[in-house]
Amino acid sequence: HTPVPAGKEDIFVVDSPNVIYTDSEIQSKYTYRTTSVVRGADGKYVATPKETLYDFKVDRKTPKTGMMLVGWGGNNGTTVTAGILANRRGLVWETREGPRAANYYGSVLMGSTMKLGTDAHTMQDVNIPFHDVLPLIHPNDLVIGGWDISGLNLAAALDRAAVLEPTLKAQVKKEMSQMVPLPSIYYPDFIAANQEDRADNLIPGDKACLAHVEKIRQDIRDFKTQNNLDKVIVQWTANTERFADILPGVNDTAENLLKAIENGHEEVSPSTVFAVACILENAPFINGSPQNTFVPGAIELASKHNSFIGGDDFKSGQTKMKSALVDFLISAGIKLTSIASYNHLGNNDGKNLSSQRQFRSKEISKSNVVDDMVEANTVLYKKGEHPDHTVVIKYMPAVGDNKRALDEYYAEIFLGGHQTISIFNVCEDSLLASPLIIDLVLVTEIMTRIQWRAHTDDEFKGFHSVLSILSYMLKAPLTPPGTPVINALAKQRAALINIFRACVGLEPESDMTLEHKLF
Ligand code: NAI
Repeated sequence: HTPVPAGKEDIFVVDSPNVIYTDSEIQSKYTYRTTSVVRGADGKYVATPKETLYDFKVDRKTPKTGMMLVGWGGNNGTTVTAGILANRRGLVWETREGPRAANYYGSVLMGSTMKLGTDAHTMQDVNIPFHDVLPLIHPNDLVIGGWDISGLNLAAALDRAAVLEPTLKAQVKKEMSQMVPLPSIYYPDFIAANQEDRADNLIPGDKACLAHVEKIRQDIRDFKTQNNLDKVIVQWTANTERFADILPGVNDTAENLLKAIENGHEEVSPSTVFAVACILENAPFINGSPQNTFVPGAIELASKHNSFIGGDDFKSGQTKMKSALVDFLISAGIKLTSIASYNHLGNNDGKNLSSQRQFRSKEISKSNVVDDMVEANTVLYKKGEHPDHTVVIKYMPAVGDNKRALDEYYAEIFLGGHQTISIFNVCEDSLLASPLIIDLVLVTEIMTRIQWRAHTDDEFKGFHSVLSILSYMLKAPLTPPGTPVINALAKQRAALINIFRACVGLEPESDMTLEHKLF
């Protein structure tokens, strides 16, 4: 067997009889090793190693990709846009701490590395950028567009956001002033009343209708043609909406949801209308806010159309810390007994969340993030036992986008002792969320180019339409119906990295390093 050389962009090649490189694809034969468990009549578990053989193939050609943001004129939308322009043009700007240059810090794909393996001679780890494991698109190449209910151009919206240094803003101002969000749909009941004064860029109509779905689909198609794109990925980074009630006959099935939209039912939210339009247009749609955009009917519609969806709620600051820290505490055998989380923030997101129904969406999304870790530890917690957990959010205009997150973790340790951990986390909100928006687009895009089949099958197909692989970036990960939710941050990252590795025929990273322990 002779390995076909990697393309000139690839920084490594896998030399294995299970991996084939063609001009257009990387094909791998992959043995997925798991452990199947049954409980015998005597109550004892029997664990049996199991092997499943899969074929994966990855399309190597990086497509010209568009990213359309709903809420483009908001803090996240303007920050991520300016950030990509700054990187694309290699900008450097003065700050009082000296010059700063564009980077992608905070993006797991652009800013972190993966251990490829062990150097054959020195026996040291060889690490490569995460971005180079698969033939991903580069964020600098994204064409950016989107919608906003506020018609300000992006340069003016950048000023309104009050996130970036004036010296950086000055350098992107001209280009961003040419960018104007498309009009959007606004159903006032779904976001806080205090948002009304910015809603001046609207598609007529104040409740769901087929015309709205059609208009959004047309916008996506137009954006694609105007920019000569191969594909478009859409993300909701607009205001947090209230939860929609799940009503039988309205949003419980795909068919009912489409009918409800046609009939102008009041319980269909703008974000669900966007999701439906994207699903029908086969443009992947990711929800970066906490509301239940993906009502059961939307999930069913996505799977019927094999269209990718992902959500919910960017995991940038407090919750990211929580999903790492709680994982550590409970895995260390320490019994966490309460978590008290307080936030105050002064940006428009905070203003919107000062309204009770929108806060409730956030509260729900922030509350379930430790469930899997608690449930998994049957030594520390009895069935149904749970740490106390409370989440408070207050609007404090003065701190702007620099959200304060104060957390107290209270735990029981050896022989009735206690450990108390207090965290004061200043989360520069939009600067933490923007790299996640980029990661979500990059991972979602490559998922559209990965196909799999059971080794004995003829046909290749895509992953399930609900992209749970995006969980690392999201607070309340959406998973295929009936499948478990993983919140533990380390597990989420391992899933992402090991699925990428499998696609190029590499074993999961086990961290056993037996080569340094057995001589
Ligand atoms: P923002 O309030 O600055 O931006 C939201 C934008 O959406 C506004 O420009 C608004 O005019 C627009 N908008 C509202 N309804 C719309 C609609 N129906 N169609 C089109 N545009 C619409 O908020 P920010 O800080 O950018 O956050 C955006 C969302 O991301 C919020 O829901 C927030 O909860 C969520 N999020 C943000 C995180 C962060 O760290 N920044 C973390 C987790 C979630």
